[in-house]
Amino acid sequence: MDKLIISGGYPLSGEIRISGAKNAALPILAATLLADGPVTVGNIPHLHDITTTMELLGRMGVSLIVDERMNIEVDPTTIRELFAPYDLVKTMRASILVLGPLLSRFGEAVVSLPGGCAIGSRPVNLHIEGLSKMGADIRVEGGYIHARAKRLHGARLVMDLVTVTGTENLMMAATLAKGTTIIENAAREPEVVDLANCLNAMGGNVTGAGSATIVVEGVDNLRGTHYDVLPDRIESGTYLVAAAITGGKIKIKDTRPWMLDAVTEKLRETGADMEVGDTWISLDMHERRPQAVNITTSPYPAFPTDMQAQFTALNAVSEGTAMISETVFENRFMHVHELQRMGADIRLQGNTAFTRGVGRLTGAPVMATDLRASASLVLAGLVAEGDTVVDRIYHIDRGYESIEEKLAKLGARIRRVPG
Ligand code: UD1
Repeated sequence: MDKLIISGGYPLSGEIRISGAKNAALPILAATLLADGPVTVGNIPHLHDITTTMELLGRMGVSLIVDERMNIEVDPTTIRELFAPYDLVKTMRASILVLGPLLSRFGEAVVSLPGGCAIGSRPVNLHIEGLSKMGADIRVEGGYIHARAKRLHGARLVMDLVTVTGTENLMMAATLAKGTTIIENAAREPEVVDLANCLNAMGGNVTGAGSATIVVEGVDNLRGTHYDVLPDRIESGTYLVAAAITGGKIKIKDTRPWMLDAVTEKLRETGADMEVGDTWISLDMHERRPQAVNITTSPYPAFPTDMQAQFTALNAVSEGTAMISETVFENRFMHVHELQRMGADIRLQGNTAFTRGVGRLTGAPVMATDLRASASLVLAGLVAEGDTVVDRIYHIDRGYESIEEKLAKLGARIRRVPG
């Protein structure tokens, strides 16, 4: 298993390009199953979760052509099996996103239940309930969701809580349903909007994405198209925190600043000088120590849970005390124990982490437990004295394209070693 070795203490400086968004690319690749012809998806990040999705589609018999610029042409017309096996779903929960499209387009799907995961129980009951309301006959047996429907019909779906992939699954299913579907209390994440834009480019009729009410008028068929996924706001935020934590100065390009308002606001509170253009953000910390900031995670447009671990690392070395409350997922503080091993002063109480910033962290061998937790350990390693060895970095490869190359370009001392 590969490891990352980071020698801390070098302020980051320079410019990097932000990759396409993982959380937009995954639902859009699933949405290609709805089309009558090939769909080409561009600006796809080179990530392990993308490879897993390609393997999932490939095992179904879907034809895939990838060019050297990571444009993926998906031809769903060669599909043979309407099946998502446990061995793939357990490595990537987002595999559940094929359930809605398969059922809606082909009338049948057998998809493994994702099961437990490192950041809480993360059930998919709302996906199942929504599809049932649209007329699907669903039973869960032997760890698999078995779903059937001659043709789904429109329905009014009031979501119990805000779920991103739940909203996406139901929105995709509704595109080919008969009649109108209204999703209330829908997730408003930019990736939901990107998926809606892609579905509309395929000939769908989705309105209201980005608000709490999404309306989908079902159509008889969707066609092939070309669609470029939007930039990754979590990758954007992670590099901005990397610059802030090291006292550095960076510019990130090819991003969409408006998607990051809650994050840039918090970075300003740390004392960073920020400038924002149409497609870029710059941050200058002037080699100063950041101020600790209080944070509560919530669905978009509030502060994203996917940036919580990175800010916990930032607070750990900042001036002052602060609290971070995690309201989206239970058990999403696995990184805290590893940060404590590097000398962080963090107390956990329920879903809140109380930090007292320390003047120095020390490098240590640490273990990545989930995607964003791993990012926080890398960030801590960038400021820690001595070497930090981050083990189990397959988690990081799921969601950050070429992280060591991008950080090295910004002046970090980081290398990957085969384990
Ligand atoms: C997506 C993102 C993930 C992000 C999360 C929250 C993708 C591929 N992943 O995950 O990076 O951290 O949104 O912004 O886009 N819940 C239920 N029942 C359900 C569905 C969800 O109780 O049927 C709960 C979950 O346990 C969790 C909360 O709802 O507590 C939000 O989860 P959800 O938005 O569904 O997360 P994902 O879509 O899995």
